Amino acid sequence: MTTSLAVILGGAAGAVGLVALLVFLWFCLLHKRSVSRTSETGSSDPSLQAEQGIELSLLRGGPHPSDSREARRFMLDELNLATKNFSDINLIGQGKFGEVYKGLLNDGMIVAIKRRPGAPNQELIEEVRYLSSIRHRNIVILLGYCQENNQQMLVYEYIPNGSVSSHLYGAAQISNELLEFKNRLSVALGAAKGLEHLHALNPPLLHKDFNTRNVLVDENFVAKVADAGLTNLLGRIDAAGPSSRIVADDVFLDPEFIEFGRFSNKSNVYSFGVFLLELVSGQEALKSRFSESNQSMVEWVQNYQDTSDIAAIIDPRLSTSFTDESMKELIWLMAHCVNPSSERRPAMNYVVSELDRILEKEMNLTMIMGEGTPIVTLGSQLFTASR
Ligand SMILES: *[C@@H]1O[C@H](CO)[C@@H](O)[C@H](O)[C@H]1NC(C)=O
Ligand SMILES: *[C@@H]1O[C@H](CO)[C@@H](O)[C@H](O)[C@H]1NC(C)=O
Ligand SMILES: *[C@@H]1O[C@H](CO)[C@@H](O)[C@H](O)[C@H]1NC(C)=O
Ligand SMILES: *[C@@H]1O[C@H](CO)[C@@H](O)[C@H](O)[C@H]1NC(C)=O
Ligand SMILES: *[C@@H]1O[C@H](CO)[C@@H](O)[C@H](O)[C@H]1NC(C)=O
Repeated sequence: MTTSLAVILGGAAGAVGLVALLVFLWFCLLHKRSVSRTSETGSSDPSLQAEQGIELSLLRGGPHPSDSREARRFMLDELNLATKNFSDINLIGQGKFGEVYKGLLNDGMIVAIKRRPGAPNQELIEEVRYLSSIRHRNIVILLGYCQENNQQMLVYEYIPNGSVSSHLYGAAQISNELLEFKNRLSVALGAAKGLEHLHALNPPLLHKDFNTRNVLVDENFVAKVADAGLTNLLGRIDAAGPSSRIVADDVFLDPEFIEFGRFSNKSNVYSFGVFLLELVSGQEALKSRFSESNQSMVEWVQNYQDTSDIAAIIDPRLSTSFTDESMKELIWLMAHCVNPSSERRPAMNYVVSELDRILEKEMNLTMIMGEGTPIVTLGSQLFTASR
């Protein structure tokens, strides 16, 4: 309630604001309707109470200050201007929510707009309010929404350098930066911190669609986890519900969820293990099988031993940019994450501290103190002339 008041007082000026405030209070008294936001853990957030009529009339006055942490309601005019009327040249992708457009707002901010047909929906607003309150360096920020003209739109901050998948095996050119092992490690660490943050929220937010496409990188190669909470949002506004969105052959999906329908914070850890595997192998885990054993890459990792030939899964493009020692530790971590038994998988905060340690160690092993020159290239012995 206090945040609603602050926004109302800040957003609406003078007498109009006062009248609106009184109407709002009167409305609250009359209705006392509690709209509860149900999370995975079933708890609700009482701060997310609103009535659509009031919501719309109060916000029509103009945008919130940009530092506001409330979900911003964007005007269609504003987004039309930002995207040249949603012209094809600004179409940058297709996601679960719909088409994704790049847009340039009046204030110079670049945004990514997801758009799909659909009637205005109060549940969408409530979900956007909650999700836009999540702010973390390693999570793509949801700025707000727009529901006009029978379109539902979500407005996110724009992350310039695309998805990790496009860097690894997409049609896009491979960036030199991601060829380096240390950079892959730091992308992994960033993504892990993003997931850890979601798990540490109260109530925890589980990412229902974590995969290599949903980790983006900015121009400084900071990893940003995208689409956190989007499956829940879609589940709330669509009658079909979130389970209809599960793809059975999704290699990122916890086998315990596929078999028993149990989705937990350890399901995210499993997905993260597959993400690590793709980072190290440079390939899509789904598509790659070993021809001799007909093992999938995930199965290979699950059966990993100290004696395993790690060159079998390592991206040849990593060439000499890593040490065997750190690589083996990383593959062990991966193997723990994709353990078929969720109980045996580590928690996300353990994954973060391990990645932190492995990255630091790799830095120690490959740098001369004070200078930036690599001195050891132990990885080179894996790749003989034939690779
Ligand atoms: C967008 O559409 C409006 C109304 O149809 C039109 O006036 C405007 O020129 C269009 N803008 C662009 C950039 O195409
Ligand atoms: C993961 O979920 C389990 C079971 O709900 C809980 O006990 C544990 O605290 C959670 N861990 C984290 C890091 O959120
Ligand atoms: C990001 O993309 C720009 C433009 O394509 C490119 O010049 C830059 O090197 C990229 N940065 C990273 C870290 O990939
Ligand atoms: C390899 O394993 C997959 C999945 O278990 C199976 O569908 C496929 O037929 C197998 N291929 C061969 C050549 O055995
Ligand atoms: C890296 O080197 C520093 C300084 O020598 C040392 O304090 C630290 O423990 C090392 N870290 C790892 C993970 O080996």
